[in-house]
Amino acid sequence: MTYNDIRKIFLTYFEQHGHKIVPSASLIPNDPTLLFSVAGMVQWKGVFQGTEQPIAPRVANVQKCIRAGGKHNDLEDVGFDGRHHTFFEMLGNWSFGDYFKEGAIEMSWELLTKVIGLDPNRIVVTTHISDDEATAIWKKITGKDAIRLDKDNWWSAGETGPCGPCTEMHYDFGPDVPGGLPGSPDEDGGRFVEIWNDVFMQYDRDANGNLTPLPKQNVDTGAGLERWAAVLQNKLDNYDTDLFANLKSAVSDLTGVKETEENKPSFKIITDHLRAVGFAIADGVIPSNADRGYVIRRILRRAMRHGQILGHKGELLSALYPALVKEMGDAYPELKTQEKHVVEIIKNEENSFADMLQNGMKLLESELPKVNNNILPGEIAFKLFDTYGFPLDLTQMILRDKKMDVDVDSFEKCMKEQKERSRADTRGTRVLWESQTDLPATDDSEKYEAETNRTAKVLSILRGEEFVKSANPGDAVEIALDHTPFYGTQGGQVGDMGVFKIGDKIVMNVAETNRVGNVVIHKGTLTEPVSIGDEVIPEINLTVRQQTARAHTATHLLQAALRQVLNEDVEQRGSKVAPDSVRFDFSFGRAMSAEEKQSVEDLVNKWIAQNLTVSHEEMDIESAKKRGAMALFGEKYGDRVRVITAGDVSCELCGGTHVYHTGEIIKARINKEKSISSGIRRITMSVGTLAE
Ligand code: GLY
Repeated sequence: MTYNDIRKIFLTYFEQHGHKIVPSASLIPNDPTLLFSVAGMVQWKGVFQGTEQPIAPRVANVQKCIRAGGKHNDLEDVGFDGRHHTFFEMLGNWSFGDYFKEGAIEMSWELLTKVIGLDPNRIVVTTHISDDEATAIWKKITGKDAIRLDKDNWWSAGETGPCGPCTEMHYDFGPDVPGGLPGSPDEDGGRFVEIWNDVFMQYDRDANGNLTPLPKQNVDTGAGLERWAAVLQNKLDNYDTDLFANLKSAVSDLTGVKETEENKPSFKIITDHLRAVGFAIADGVIPSNADRGYVIRRILRRAMRHGQILGHKGELLSALYPALVKEMGDAYPELKTQEKHVVEIIKNEENSFADMLQNGMKLLESELPKVNNNILPGEIAFKLFDTYGFPLDLTQMILRDKKMDVDVDSFEKCMKEQKERSRADTRGTRVLWESQTDLPATDDSEKYEAETNRTAKVLSILRGEEFVKSANPGDAVEIALDHTPFYGTQGGQVGDMGVFKIGDKIVMNVAETNRVGNVVIHKGTLTEPVSIGDEVIPEINLTVRQQTARAHTATHLLQAALRQVLNEDVEQRGSKVAPDSVRFDFSFGRAMSAEEKQSVEDLVNKWIAQNLTVSHEEMDIESAKKRGAMALFGEKYGDRVRVITAGDVSCELCGGTHVYHTGEIIKARINKEKSISSGIRRITMSVGTLAE
């Protein structure tokens, strides 16, 4: 039975038993307590808690999950046994106040023993120590005595939220395989493998650990598809099942290396990480230095290290992605529709880390002979992190092979010192620029027509803490020009990125643009020498500009939608507009309901679909007021103002950059809504391809 067969059999069984079959939810959960969807039930938390209506009393699906951070984290174990994955598929069925313990256990048992035909004698069941009811049901249905366990048989997705006792079914691979019964000291040996978990969701746990009964008694089950495949294909190692065998062949074809007992961990890690990275990016995660973006970056870099162990140079996961699409694209069409985008993002990540990986490994190898007591000094791990982009867990993974570890305390001390230095740096350069009283205000009047390519004169160069006449390739600098089309961070909108050119040659990569008073400061790294008086062509990264513009216009639509759905008193209290993402703070006295959030999101998407014209006009403040343009609470405006109007739904005073038609926003999706202080709520929203 292949993966495709098992998915079909599972869903057909539950459909025949009155369940509504729903597609997998996104890996990015609508839940601030989790980085990723860690189980099928994540999308139903609100239903269990009684704040959302169920779409049907019985539901089933196959859910994409990632467990690589927080309470559920299997990252460190991947590669070293045959059972762990960061990405996996979870088969699940749910009852929302419909059947309870008896119904759930009956169906699990029937599907396992009658439908997929497992030998009942090979199934061992466990129940929670307190759960006499489930124990009696097992006895009645199967004649089996359950093993009663405590902590293993209590389940929740996060530290807080719905939870309850559970009963697990384990498959026995037979006495030839080492390992003991569940709950015994050698339970991890591999003989008994958990194949299904029926959770009886009865309680809500708060931050202090208090349990409150949920409004209804629910069932939440989860079964690892990879483990079912292993059992049904009689493989002790999940990575030897059909799907993984095909992915591993793709790794062999790409690297020219055959799998052996010795290099098997690298094959497992690469195929596992291909799935985690590929699926996460297809769902909109962008590798970055924070939160889930950093988890994905770390996983990708770990995979590259294992490519290097196999002697492979160059692109790895981006080259393997088509094999993933071939294997799983029919079950998950988003892998296909997002293929171009995913491959491009992985390629960028791989290209930017490739040299760092080589050079970092050289540094690490030169340090190893000096290591005492098998502990690498934290300072070296920090240098690997800071200069070569090695996440701490990557260094630890490399050292694990050599039975070494990192001095984590001294690593953390270095991290803390660096944070303090960089905080001082930001304050420092602002003060330094403020001391340049002779510097004229930057003419940035062309910032709204981003495409100008007029040359501009370099007026001032700051390198470190020193203003210099010229600087060299590799220098981190801040530069002021006489005029610029770059938008410097203001009004909540983050500044532009881009390059400076001389002729066709790039001389500087601009990573951020800020404003100090009336001076626009371009911050970045030189790739060619630059001197005061040079004429450069400032060229904006138009992709990032467009992503920021659509986020900004979407912010205006969001405000209009909030006023329509909640009430006219809702007012903006702050915002951060970044490429494809919006953070919007507003005055409102209570949490929004799920329906209200949905109505706001639907309204914004309706206006996007209507492709309303967005006009950008400059006028005097009186005319703007007559037009009914909304002003920002507590903001001071000059005599001349810009008015941004989207169809007849929004009219605001605003100095930011915007799209010309709302259709350019593509899509908007509300990710979170929470309180940040009394009477002030915060919404985070994605737009554009990220929201898609
Ligand atoms: N939600 C049940 C499980 O993950 O085991």
